[in-house]
Amino acid sequence: MSIKKQAKTICIISAIFVFFFWYYYYITGRNTDYKKPFIIYPKIKKTKFPTACGIRVENNPMLKVDNLKTYLLGSYIEHRLEVKTLKTIAIVLRSEKAEYQCFLCCNGTNISVPATYSIHSDHFGFNYGTADITCQVPETCTTPMHVAITSPSPLGKASQNVKVIQPVRNQQTRDNFTYDFTVCISVMYDYTNVLELVQTMEMFKILGIQRVAIYKTNCDPNVQKVLDYYVMQKFVEVIPWTISSHLKVSRGWKNWESPGELHYFGQIPALNDCVYRYMYQSRYVALQDLDEIILPVPKGLENWTELLHELERKYGRNVGFEFENNFFPLIIKETNPAYSPDLWKKVMGVNILQYVKKLRIDPTTFNNFKVIVNPRSVYSASVHGLLQSKGGTIRVDSNIAHMYHFRNMTINVPENFLLQDTRLRDYAGRLIPAISNVLTEVLDVQTI
Ligand SMILES: *[C@@H]1O[C@H](CO)[C@@H](O)[C@H](O)[C@H]1NC(C)=O
Ligand SMILES: *[C@@H]1O[C@H](CO)[C@@H](O)[C@H](O)[C@H]1NC(C)=O
Ligand SMILES: *[C@@H]1O[C@H](CO)[C@@H](O)[C@H](O)[C@H]1NC(C)=O
Ligand SMILES: *[C@@H]1O[C@H](CO)[C@@H](O)[C@H](O)[C@H]1NC(C)=O
Ligand SMILES: *[C@@H]1O[C@H](CO)[C@@H](O)[C@H](O)[C@H]1NC(C)=O
Repeated sequence: MSIKKQAKTICIISAIFVFFFWYYYYITGRNTDYKKPFIIYPKIKKTKFPTACGIRVENNPMLKVDNLKTYLLGSYIEHRLEVKTLKTIAIVLRSEKAEYQCFLCCNGTNISVPATYSIHSDHFGFNYGTADITCQVPETCTTPMHVAITSPSPLGKASQNVKVIQPVRNQQTRDNFTYDFTVCISVMYDYTNVLELVQTMEMFKILGIQRVAIYKTNCDPNVQKVLDYYVMQKFVEVIPWTISSHLKVSRGWKNWESPGELHYFGQIPALNDCVYRYMYQSRYVALQDLDEIILPVPKGLENWTELLHELERKYGRNVGFEFENNFFPLIIKETNPAYSPDLWKKVMGVNILQYVKKLRIDPTTFNNFKVIVNPRSVYSASVHGLLQSKGGTIRVDSNIAHMYHFRNMTINVPENFLLQDTRLRDYAGRLIPAISNVLTEVLDVQTI
Protein backbone atom coordinates (compact mmCIF):
# COMPACT_ATOMS: atom_id res chain seq x y z
CA MET A 1 0.00 0.00 0.00
CA SER A 2 1.41 3.37 -0.92
CA ILE A 3 1.77 6.21 1.61
CA LYS A 4 -0.84 8.14 -0.35
CA LYS A 5 -3.34 5.29 -0.12
CA GLN A 6 -2.71 4.91 3.62
CA ALA A 7 -3.26 8.60 4.20
CA LYS A 8 -6.48 8.42 2.23
CA THR A 9 -7.73 5.47 4.29
CA ILE A 10 -6.90 7.21 7.56
CA CYS A 11 -8.69 10.31 6.34
CA ILE A 12 -11.83 8.37 5.48
CA ILE A 13 -11.82 6.48 8.77
CA SER A 14 -11.33 9.71 10.73
CA ALA A 15 -14.14 11.35 8.79
CA ILE A 16 -16.45 8.45 9.66
CA PHE A 17 -15.46 8.70 13.32
CA VAL A 18 -16.03 12.43 13.41
CA PHE A 19 -19.38 12.00 11.76
CA PHE A 20 -20.52 9.34 14.21
CA PHE A 21 -19.39 11.38 17.20
CA TRP A 22 -21.19 14.40 15.88
CA TYR A 23 -24.29 12.33 15.15
CA TYR A 24 -24.19 10.74 18.61
CA TYR A 25 -24.04 14.12 20.32
CA TYR A 26 -26.67 15.43 17.97
CA ILE A 27 -29.07 12.62 18.88
CA THR A 28 -28.36 12.55 22.59
CA GLY A 29 -28.48 16.31 22.90
CA ARG A 30 -31.62 16.54 20.81
CA ASN A 31 -34.19 16.63 23.56
CA THR A 32 -32.61 19.52 25.38
CA ASP A 33 -31.07 21.61 22.66
CA TYR A 34 -31.44 20.08 19.25
CA LYS A 35 -30.01 22.95 17.27
CA LYS A 36 -26.61 22.84 18.99
CA PRO A 37 -25.01 19.42 18.78
CA PHE A 38 -21.76 20.43 20.44
CA ILE A 39 -23.03 22.20 23.49
CA ILE A 40 -20.85 21.84 26.55
CA TYR A 41 -23.08 21.89 29.57
CA PRO A 42 -21.72 23.93 32.47
CA LYS A 43 -20.99 21.78 35.53
CA ILE A 44 -23.73 22.37 38.05
CA LYS A 45 -22.19 23.50 41.31
CA LYS A 46 -23.10 21.08 44.07
CA THR A 47 -25.30 23.18 46.30
CA LYS A 48 -24.73 22.88 50.00
CA PHE A 49 -27.56 20.94 51.58
CA PRO A 50 -30.00 22.98 53.64
CA THR A 51 -29.55 22.98 57.38
CA ALA A 52 -31.56 23.93 60.46
CA CYS A 53 -29.85 24.52 63.80
CA GLY A 54 -26.70 23.39 62.02
CA ILE A 55 -28.19 19.98 61.19
CA ARG A 56 -28.79 18.62 57.70
CA VAL A 57 -32.44 18.81 56.65
CA GLU A 58 -33.96 15.76 54.95
CA ASN A 59 -37.37 16.24 53.33
CA ASN A 60 -38.05 12.62 52.43
CA PRO A 61 -39.21 9.69 54.57
CA MET A 62 -37.29 6.94 56.35
CA LEU A 63 -35.05 8.72 58.80
CA LYS A 64 -33.81 6.17 61.29
CA VAL A 65 -33.88 7.03 64.99
CA ASP A 66 -30.54 6.48 66.73
CA ASN A 67 -30.19 2.82 67.69
CA LEU A 68 -33.90 2.13 67.64
CA LYS A 69 -35.82 0.21 65.02
CA THR A 70 -37.89 3.27 64.23
CA TYR A 71 -38.20 4.93 60.82
CA LEU A 72 -39.73 8.37 60.41
CA LEU A 73 -41.99 9.37 57.52
CA GLY A 74 -43.16 12.91 58.08
CA SER A 75 -43.81 15.42 60.86
CA TYR A 76 -46.89 17.59 61.09
CA ILE A 77 -48.47 20.13 63.42
CA GLU A 78 -51.69 18.65 64.81
CA HIS A 79 -54.00 21.66 65.15
CA ARG A 80 -57.08 19.78 66.26
CA LEU A 81 -56.15 19.07 69.87
CA GLU A 82 -56.43 21.41 72.84
CA VAL A 83 -52.68 21.91 72.99
CA LYS A 84 -50.49 22.48 69.98
CA THR A 85 -48.97 19.09 69.26
CA LEU A 86 -46.37 17.82 66.88
CA LYS A 87 -47.06 14.45 65.33
CA THR A 88 -44.51 12.30 63.53
CA ILE A 89 -45.73 9.30 61.57
CA ALA A 90 -43.35 6.38 61.92
CA ILE A 91 -42.79 2.70 61.29
CA VAL A 92 -41.72 0.97 64.51
CA LEU A 93 -40.78 -2.49 65.71
CA ARG A 94 -43.83 -3.17 67.85
CA SER A 95 -42.02 -5.26 70.45
CA GLU A 96 -39.33 -2.67 71.12
CA LYS A 97 -39.73 -0.68 74.32
CA ALA A 98 -38.80 2.64 72.80
CA GLU A 99 -38.47 6.02 74.44
CA TYR A 100 -38.36 9.16 72.40
CA GLN A 101 -37.92 12.85 72.63
CA CYS A 102 -38.45 15.61 70.13
CA PHE A 103 -35.49 17.76 69.31
CA LEU A 104 -37.16 20.90 68.01
CA CYS A 105 -35.46 23.54 65.99
CA CYS A 106 -37.43 26.74 66.56
CA ASN A 107 -36.20 29.42 64.24
CA GLY A 108 -32.54 28.82 65.02
CA THR A 109 -32.68 27.79 68.66
CA ASN A 110 -33.18 24.23 69.83
CA ILE A 111 -35.17 22.61 72.60
CA SER A 112 -35.71 18.96 73.53
CA VAL A 113 -39.05 17.84 74.92
CA PRO A 114 -40.33 14.37 75.89
CA ALA A 115 -42.43 12.48 73.37
CA THR A 116 -44.97 9.69 73.66
CA TYR A 117 -46.07 7.22 71.05
CA SER A 118 -48.97 4.98 70.19
CA ILE A 119 -48.99 2.08 67.77
CA HIS A 120 -51.95 1.79 65.41
CA SER A 121 -54.10 -1.25 66.03
CA ASP A 122 -54.05 -2.20 62.34
CA HIS A 123 -50.80 -4.07 61.75
CA PHE A 124 -52.10 -7.47 60.62
CA GLY A 125 -49.79 -9.21 63.08
CA PHE A 126 -46.56 -8.17 61.40
CA ASN A 127 -43.58 -7.31 63.61
CA TYR A 128 -43.52 -3.72 62.47
CA GLY A 129 -46.45 -1.34 62.57
CA THR A 130 -47.46 2.28 62.13
CA ALA A 131 -46.99 4.62 65.08
CA ASP A 132 -47.72 8.23 65.93
CA ILE A 133 -44.92 9.84 67.92
CA THR A 134 -46.22 13.02 69.52
CA CYS A 135 -44.87 15.81 71.64
CA GLN A 136 -46.33 19.04 72.91
CA VAL A 137 -44.89 22.16 71.38
CA PRO A 138 -43.68 24.35 74.27
CA GLU A 139 -44.83 27.96 74.27
CA THR A 140 -41.24 29.12 74.05
CA CYS A 141 -41.07 27.51 70.64
CA THR A 142 -43.27 29.78 68.56
CA THR A 143 -42.26 28.31 65.21
CA PRO A 144 -41.25 24.62 65.37
CA MET A 145 -39.88 24.56 61.83
CA HIS A 146 -37.88 21.33 62.12
CA VAL A 147 -37.83 18.27 64.33
CA ALA A 148 -35.67 15.24 64.93
CA ILE A 149 -36.92 12.31 66.97
CA THR A 150 -34.19 11.02 69.26
CA SER A 151 -33.89 8.60 72.11
CA PRO A 152 -33.55 10.53 75.35
CA SER A 153 -30.10 10.98 76.79
CA PRO A 154 -29.72 11.58 80.52
CA LEU A 155 -27.28 14.45 80.20
CA GLY A 156 -29.42 16.42 77.81
CA LYS A 157 -26.82 15.81 75.15
CA ALA A 158 -29.27 14.35 72.69
CA SER A 159 -28.53 17.06 70.19
CA GLN A 160 -25.03 15.73 69.73
CA ASN A 161 -26.42 12.57 68.17
CA VAL A 162 -28.74 14.38 65.83
CA LYS A 163 -27.46 13.96 62.29
CA VAL A 164 -30.58 14.72 60.27
CA ILE A 165 -33.68 16.79 60.91
CA GLN A 166 -37.09 16.93 59.22
CA PRO A 167 -39.25 19.87 58.20
CA VAL A 168 -42.48 20.21 60.18
CA ARG A 169 -45.39 20.48 57.75
CA ASN A 170 -48.87 21.94 58.20
CA GLN A 171 -47.58 24.96 60.11
CA GLN A 172 -50.87 26.73 59.49
CA THR A 173 -54.41 25.56 59.04
CA ARG A 174 -55.96 26.65 55.77
CA ASP A 175 -59.36 26.49 54.19
CA ASN A 176 -58.43 27.63 50.70
CA PHE A 177 -57.37 24.34 49.19
CA THR A 178 -55.09 23.99 46.20
CA TYR A 179 -56.85 20.77 45.13
CA ASP A 180 -60.42 19.53 45.39
CA PHE A 181 -59.44 15.86 45.02
CA THR A 182 -56.16 14.17 45.78
CA VAL A 183 -55.68 10.44 45.35
CA CYS A 184 -53.22 8.79 47.74
CA ILE A 185 -51.59 5.77 46.12
CA SER A 186 -49.83 3.64 48.66
CA VAL A 187 -46.63 2.02 47.55
CA MET A 188 -45.59 1.44 43.96
CA TYR A 189 -43.30 -1.59 44.07
CA ASP A 190 -41.77 -3.52 41.13
CA TYR A 191 -44.35 -1.76 38.98
CA THR A 192 -44.30 -2.41 35.23
CA ASN A 193 -47.91 -1.76 34.20
CA VAL A 194 -47.32 1.20 31.88
CA LEU A 195 -50.60 1.11 29.99
CA GLU A 196 -52.82 0.77 33.06
CA LEU A 197 -50.92 3.57 34.79
CA VAL A 198 -51.58 5.97 31.91
CA GLN A 199 -55.21 4.83 31.66
CA THR A 200 -55.78 5.34 35.36
CA MET A 201 -54.12 8.77 35.42
CA GLU A 202 -56.15 9.96 32.43
CA MET A 203 -59.35 8.58 33.95
CA PHE A 204 -58.50 10.38 37.20
CA LYS A 205 -58.18 13.62 35.25
CA ILE A 206 -61.55 13.12 33.60
CA LEU A 207 -63.07 12.52 37.03
CA GLY A 208 -61.74 15.89 38.20
CA ILE A 209 -58.87 14.65 40.36
CA GLN A 210 -56.12 17.27 40.42
CA ARG A 211 -53.36 15.56 42.32
CA VAL A 212 -52.03 12.03 42.83
CA ALA A 213 -49.49 11.24 45.56
CA ILE A 214 -47.52 8.06 44.86
CA TYR A 215 -45.24 6.46 47.43
CA LYS A 216 -42.71 4.83 45.15
CA THR A 217 -40.13 2.16 45.83
CA ASN A 218 -39.23 1.11 42.28
CA CYS A 219 -40.65 0.71 38.79
CA ASP A 220 -39.89 -0.08 35.14
CA PRO A 221 -38.01 2.64 33.13
CA ASN A 222 -41.06 3.35 30.97
CA VAL A 223 -43.22 3.71 34.06
CA GLN A 224 -40.64 6.21 35.30
CA LYS A 225 -41.00 8.19 32.06
CA VAL A 226 -44.75 8.32 32.59
CA LEU A 227 -44.29 9.44 36.19
CA ASP A 228 -41.79 12.13 35.14
CA TYR A 229 -44.33 13.41 32.62
CA TYR A 230 -47.06 13.75 35.24
CA VAL A 231 -44.68 15.17 37.83
CA MET A 232 -43.69 17.86 35.36
CA GLN A 233 -47.39 18.71 34.97
CA LYS A 234 -47.60 18.90 38.77
CA PHE A 235 -50.32 16.26 38.58
CA VAL A 236 -48.29 13.63 40.42
CA GLU A 237 -46.14 13.91 43.51
CA VAL A 238 -43.70 11.04 43.95
CA ILE A 239 -42.62 10.39 47.52
CA PRO A 240 -39.59 8.09 47.74
CA TRP A 241 -40.44 4.98 49.73
CA THR A 242 -37.32 3.16 50.86
CA ILE A 243 -38.51 1.07 53.80
CA SER A 244 -37.62 -2.14 51.95
CA SER A 245 -33.94 -1.22 52.23
CA HIS A 246 -34.28 -1.31 56.03
CA LEU A 247 -36.52 -4.31 56.60
CA LYS A 248 -38.23 -7.12 54.72
CA VAL A 249 -41.63 -5.99 53.51
CA SER A 250 -44.42 -8.46 52.88
CA ARG A 251 -46.12 -8.53 49.49
CA GLY A 252 -49.48 -9.20 51.06
CA TRP A 253 -51.54 -9.02 54.20
CA LYS A 254 -51.10 -12.56 55.46
CA ASN A 255 -47.74 -13.22 57.10
CA TRP A 256 -47.99 -16.96 56.46
CA GLU A 257 -48.58 -16.51 52.72
CA SER A 258 -46.16 -13.70 52.09
CA PRO A 259 -43.62 -13.57 54.91
CA GLY A 260 -42.09 -10.28 55.92
CA GLU A 261 -41.81 -7.82 58.76
CA LEU A 262 -44.30 -5.19 57.54
CA HIS A 263 -47.77 -5.47 55.98
CA TYR A 264 -48.07 -4.98 52.21
CA PHE A 265 -44.97 -2.89 51.39
CA GLY A 266 -45.89 -0.44 54.17
CA GLN A 267 -49.27 0.58 52.76
CA ILE A 268 -50.77 1.72 56.07
CA PRO A 269 -48.01 4.15 57.17
CA ALA A 270 -47.91 5.58 53.61
CA LEU A 271 -51.66 6.27 53.64
CA ASN A 272 -51.44 7.92 57.05
CA ASP A 273 -48.61 10.14 55.87
CA CYS A 274 -50.62 11.10 52.80
CA VAL A 275 -53.66 12.13 54.83
CA TYR A 276 -51.55 14.53 56.89
CA ARG A 277 -49.49 15.75 53.94
CA TYR A 278 -52.64 16.78 52.06
CA MET A 279 -54.73 17.81 55.09
CA TYR A 280 -54.61 21.51 54.25
CA GLN A 281 -53.87 21.16 50.54
CA SER A 282 -56.88 19.15 49.41
CA ARG A 283 -60.58 19.32 50.11
CA TYR A 284 -60.87 15.53 49.84
CA VAL A 285 -58.44 12.63 49.68
CA ALA A 286 -59.10 9.15 48.28
CA LEU A 287 -57.12 6.28 49.77
CA GLN A 288 -56.78 3.60 47.11
CA ASP A 289 -54.52 1.66 44.75
CA LEU A 290 -53.56 2.08 41.10
CA ASP A 291 -55.75 -0.80 39.93
CA GLU A 292 -58.85 0.79 41.43
CA ILE A 293 -61.16 3.49 40.09
CA ILE A 294 -64.18 4.89 41.89
CA LEU A 295 -66.87 5.76 39.35
CA PRO A 296 -70.26 7.39 39.71
CA VAL A 297 -72.95 5.14 38.24
CA PRO A 298 -75.92 7.23 37.03
CA LYS A 299 -75.33 8.90 33.68
CA GLY A 300 -76.14 12.32 35.19
CA LEU A 301 -73.11 12.11 37.51
CA GLU A 302 -70.00 12.28 35.38
CA ASN A 303 -67.17 13.25 37.74
CA TRP A 304 -66.19 13.37 41.39
CA THR A 305 -67.28 17.00 41.74
CA GLU A 306 -70.82 16.06 40.85
CA LEU A 307 -70.62 12.80 42.79
CA LEU A 308 -69.46 14.39 46.05
CA HIS A 309 -72.07 17.08 45.70
CA GLU A 310 -74.72 14.38 45.45
CA LEU A 311 -73.26 12.32 48.30
CA GLU A 312 -73.14 15.28 50.67
CA ARG A 313 -76.70 16.17 49.76
CA LYS A 314 -77.79 12.61 50.52
CA TYR A 315 -75.59 11.66 53.48
CA GLY A 316 -74.45 14.99 54.94
CA ARG A 317 -71.15 16.80 54.99
CA ASN A 318 -69.61 15.48 58.19
CA VAL A 319 -68.99 11.93 57.13
CA GLY A 320 -66.50 10.04 54.95
CA PHE A 321 -67.60 7.86 52.04
CA GLU A 322 -66.96 4.15 51.53
CA PHE A 323 -67.14 2.75 48.00
CA GLU A 324 -68.00 -0.89 47.46
CA ASN A 325 -65.22 -2.91 45.86
CA ASN A 326 -66.11 -4.77 42.66
CA PHE A 327 -63.56 -7.19 41.28
CA PHE A 328 -63.07 -7.39 37.52
CA PRO A 329 -60.95 -10.55 37.11
CA LEU A 330 -58.31 -10.15 34.40
CA ILE A 331 -58.84 -13.71 33.24
CA ILE A 332 -62.17 -12.75 31.70
CA LYS A 333 -61.26 -10.46 28.85
CA GLU A 334 -63.60 -9.07 26.24
CA THR A 335 -61.48 -8.11 23.27
CA ASN A 336 -63.11 -5.43 21.20
CA PRO A 337 -61.05 -3.42 18.69
CA ALA A 338 -63.04 -0.28 19.50
CA TYR A 339 -61.47 -0.29 22.98
CA SER A 340 -58.04 -1.52 22.01
CA PRO A 341 -56.24 0.75 19.52
CA ASP A 342 -53.25 -0.83 17.76
CA LEU A 343 -51.01 1.85 19.21
CA TRP A 344 -51.57 0.52 22.73
CA LYS A 345 -50.52 -3.02 21.83
CA LYS A 346 -46.89 -1.89 21.76
CA VAL A 347 -47.11 -0.86 25.39
CA MET A 348 -46.63 -3.15 28.35
CA GLY A 349 -49.54 -3.54 30.75
CA VAL A 350 -53.23 -4.18 31.17
CA ASN A 351 -55.89 -2.45 29.07
CA ILE A 352 -58.66 -1.93 31.62
CA LEU A 353 -61.24 -1.10 28.94
CA GLN A 354 -61.29 -4.80 28.03
CA TYR A 355 -62.77 -5.91 31.33
CA VAL A 356 -66.52 -5.63 31.69
CA LYS A 357 -67.35 -8.66 33.83
CA LYS A 358 -67.38 -8.30 37.58
CA LEU A 359 -67.86 -10.77 40.38
CA ARG A 360 -71.23 -10.70 42.05
CA ILE A 361 -70.97 -9.18 45.54
CA ASP A 362 -71.16 -11.69 48.36
CA PRO A 363 -72.91 -9.80 51.18
CA THR A 364 -71.75 -12.34 53.78
CA THR A 365 -68.04 -11.57 53.35
CA PHE A 366 -66.02 -8.45 54.09
CA ASN A 367 -65.95 -6.03 51.19
CA ASN A 368 -62.60 -4.41 50.40
CA PHE A 369 -64.12 -0.94 50.08
CA LYS A 370 -61.99 2.19 49.77
CA VAL A 371 -62.77 5.73 50.92
CA ILE A 372 -62.97 9.35 49.87
CA VAL A 373 -62.76 11.56 52.95
CA ASN A 374 -62.21 15.06 54.21
CA PRO A 375 -58.65 14.64 55.55
CA ARG A 376 -59.25 17.19 58.30
CA SER A 377 -61.68 14.79 59.91
CA VAL A 378 -59.13 11.94 59.99
CA TYR A 379 -56.74 11.11 62.85
CA SER A 380 -55.61 7.73 61.59
CA ALA A 381 -56.35 5.67 58.51
CA SER A 382 -56.11 2.05 57.48
CA VAL A 383 -56.32 -0.01 54.31
CA HIS A 384 -60.08 -0.03 54.15
CA GLY A 385 -61.42 3.03 55.86
CA LEU A 386 -60.41 4.96 58.92
CA LEU A 387 -59.24 3.97 62.39
CA GLN A 388 -60.00 7.24 64.12
CA SER A 389 -61.96 10.13 62.72
CA LYS A 390 -64.55 12.76 63.40
CA GLY A 391 -67.84 11.57 61.95
CA GLY A 392 -66.77 8.13 60.71
CA THR A 393 -67.64 6.78 57.28
CA ILE A 394 -70.79 5.61 55.56
CA ARG A 395 -71.22 3.01 52.81
CA VAL A 396 -72.36 4.67 49.63
CA ASP A 397 -75.30 3.10 47.79
CA SER A 398 -73.61 1.10 45.02
CA ASN A 399 -76.18 2.39 42.55
CA ILE A 400 -74.72 5.87 43.05
CA ALA A 401 -71.05 4.91 42.92
CA HIS A 402 -68.75 1.97 43.46
CA MET A 403 -65.20 0.92 42.86
CA TYR A 404 -63.84 -0.84 39.77
CA HIS A 405 -60.94 -3.07 40.76
CA PHE A 406 -59.00 -4.77 37.94
CA ARG A 407 -57.22 -7.71 39.40
CA ASN A 408 -55.43 -10.82 38.21
CA MET A 409 -57.09 -13.43 40.37
CA THR A 410 -56.82 -17.16 39.94
CA ILE A 411 -60.42 -18.13 40.35
CA ASN A 412 -62.79 -20.44 38.64
CA VAL A 413 -66.10 -18.65 38.46
CA PRO A 414 -69.27 -20.01 36.96
CA GLU A 415 -70.75 -17.61 34.40
CA ASN A 416 -73.76 -16.83 36.62
CA PHE A 417 -71.46 -15.33 39.24
CA LEU A 418 -70.48 -12.64 36.80
CA LEU A 419 -72.27 -9.41 36.02
CA GLN A 420 -71.80 -7.16 33.02
CA ASP A 421 -70.70 -3.61 33.88
CA THR A 422 -69.60 -1.34 31.04
CA ARG A 423 -69.72 1.99 32.88
CA LEU A 424 -66.02 2.72 32.29
CA ARG A 425 -66.59 2.52 28.54
CA ASP A 426 -68.99 5.48 28.75
CA TYR A 427 -65.84 7.59 29.13
CA ALA A 428 -64.07 5.99 26.16
CA GLY A 429 -64.78 8.93 23.84
CA ARG A 430 -62.58 11.23 25.93
CA LEU A 431 -60.40 8.59 27.52
CA ILE A 432 -59.01 6.78 24.46
CA PRO A 433 -57.58 9.84 22.67
CA ALA A 434 -56.20 11.17 25.96
CA ILE A 435 -54.36 7.89 26.61
CA SER A 436 -53.03 7.68 23.05
CA ASN A 437 -51.75 11.26 23.31
CA VAL A 438 -49.76 10.54 26.43
CA LEU A 439 -48.32 7.30 25.04
CA THR A 440 -47.25 9.06 21.85
CA GLU A 441 -45.80 12.00 23.71
CA VAL A 442 -44.04 10.17 26.51
CA LEU A 443 -42.97 6.85 25.02
CA ASP A 444 -42.67 7.81 21.38
CA VAL A 445 -44.88 4.78 20.86
CA GLN A 446 -45.25 5.27 17.10
CA THR A 447 -41.70 4.05 16.66
CA ILE A 448 -41.06 1.54 19.45
C1 LIG B 1 -28.76 23.50 71.16
O1 LIG B 1 -28.79 24.59 72.06
C2 LIG B 1 -27.72 24.60 72.97
C3 LIG B 1 -27.91 25.79 73.90
O2 LIG B 1 -29.19 25.72 74.47
C4 LIG B 1 -26.38 24.69 72.24
O3 LIG B 1 -25.32 24.62 73.17
C5 LIG B 1 -26.28 23.54 71.26
O4 LIG B 1 -25.11 23.69 70.47
C6 LIG B 1 -27.48 23.53 70.35
N1 LIG B 1 -27.40 22.38 69.50
C7 LIG B 1 -27.57 22.43 68.20
C8 LIG B 1 -27.42 21.15 67.48
O5 LIG B 1 -27.87 23.44 67.63
C1 LIG C 1 -36.75 34.29 63.77
O1 LIG C 1 -35.64 34.88 64.40
C2 LIG C 1 -35.27 36.15 63.88
C3 LIG C 1 -34.04 36.65 64.62
O2 LIG C 1 -33.40 35.64 65.31
C4 LIG C 1 -36.43 37.12 64.08
O3 LIG C 1 -36.12 38.37 63.50
C5 LIG C 1 -37.67 36.54 63.41
O4 LIG C 1 -38.78 37.39 63.67
C6 LIG C 1 -37.98 35.16 63.93
N1 LIG C 1 -39.09 34.61 63.15
C7 LIG C 1 -40.12 34.00 63.71
C8 LIG C 1 -41.17 33.51 62.78
O5 LIG C 1 -40.21 33.82 64.91
C1 LIG D 1 -54.37 30.41 51.36
O1 LIG D 1 -54.42 31.37 52.39
C2 LIG D 1 -53.18 31.58 53.08
C3 LIG D 1 -53.43 32.56 54.19
O2 LIG D 1 -54.48 32.13 54.99
C4 LIG D 1 -52.13 32.07 52.09
O3 LIG D 1 -50.89 32.23 52.76
C5 LIG D 1 -51.98 31.07 50.96
O4 LIG D 1 -51.09 31.54 50.00
C6 LIG D 1 -53.32 30.78 50.32
N1 LIG D 1 -53.15 29.70 49.38
C7 LIG D 1 -53.80 29.58 48.24
C8 LIG D 1 -53.52 28.38 47.41
O5 LIG D 1 -54.60 30.42 47.88
C1 LIG E 1 -67.86 17.82 36.12
O1 LIG E 1 -68.90 17.67 35.19
C2 LIG E 1 -69.70 18.82 34.99
C3 LIG E 1 -70.84 18.44 34.05
O2 LIG E 1 -70.36 17.74 32.94
C4 LIG E 1 -68.85 19.93 34.43
O3 LIG E 1 -69.61 21.11 34.30
C5 LIG E 1 -67.68 20.19 35.38
O4 LIG E 1 -66.81 21.14 34.82
C6 LIG E 1 -66.92 18.90 35.63
N1 LIG E 1 -65.91 19.15 36.64
C7 LIG E 1 -64.64 18.76 36.52
C8 LIG E 1 -63.74 19.10 37.65
O5 LIG E 1 -64.24 18.14 35.54
C1 LIG F 1 -52.20 -13.19 35.40
O1 LIG F 1 -51.40 -14.10 36.13
C2 LIG F 1 -50.95 -15.18 35.35
C3 LIG F 1 -50.24 -16.16 36.26
O2 LIG F 1 -49.49 -15.50 37.21
C4 LIG F 1 -50.05 -14.66 34.23
O3 LIG F 1 -49.61 -15.72 33.42
C5 LIG F 1 -50.83 -13.66 33.39
O4 LIG F 1 -49.99 -13.08 32.42
C6 LIG F 1 -51.42 -12.58 34.24
N1 LIG F 1 -52.31 -11.76 33.43
C7 LIG F 1 -52.28 -10.44 33.44
C8 LIG F 1 -53.25 -9.78 32.53
O5 LIG F 1 -51.54 -9.80 34.15
